[in-house]
Amino acid sequence: MERIEVLISEEKIVERMKQLADVINKDYENREIKLICVLKGGIFALCELSKYIKVPVKLDFMCVSSYEDNTSSSGRVRIVKDLDQNIEGEDVLIVEDIIDSGRTLTYLFEILKARKPNSIRLCTLLDKPDRRVPEADIKVDYTGFTIPDEFVVGYGLDYAQKYRNLPYIGVVKFDDK
Ligand code: IMP
Ligand code: MG
Repeated sequence: MERIEVLISEEKIVERMKQLADVINKDYENREIKLICVLKGGIFALCELSKYIKVPVKLDFMCVSSYEDNTSSSGRVRIVKDLDQNIEGEDVLIVEDIIDSGRTLTYLFEILKARKPNSIRLCTLLDKPDRRVPEADIKVDYTGFTIPDEFVVGYGLDYAQKYRNLPYIGVVKFDDK
């Protein structure tokens, strides 16, 4: 069985999301944002962040999958659910739970750019830069927290589909028994 150790508390996450929203409000002044949530992991970050965004916001959802039920990337990414609306001419802000190898986002960026948005930026709750693969070409515009190379759960993130509902970010510890 695994145990979960708290890494980032709910209070810290909420405080950080408010800070990011402040910056976003300034950056997007007099514009409208199309917030794209990358399901399922990005859902908590999207909800928390969007509450504090003051410019007009539209929400859409996309589900891509790159992980089997384990803790290492398969390298394969597929679209499980596409956006409902067109993003041509829109100012798109992608909201992700975590950037790990960077493969998912590299792929997603390519797909979304081809749809000709006016701009496209990236916001992630967590970043594990130590894990980035060389072929991943990603610029993160808004980062919640940079974390070390450990497998984390909670606040949308799962281990074998569990723990997404935890209100904090925790590290998964694997005990022998
Ligand atoms: P990437 O393509 O390797 O950057 O993987 C990104 C996706 O892998 C994230 O959106 C998560 O769904 C998943 N992932 C990466 N690291 C973790 C982790 O530590 N805990 C839970 N999911 C993770
Ligand atoms: Mg994800």
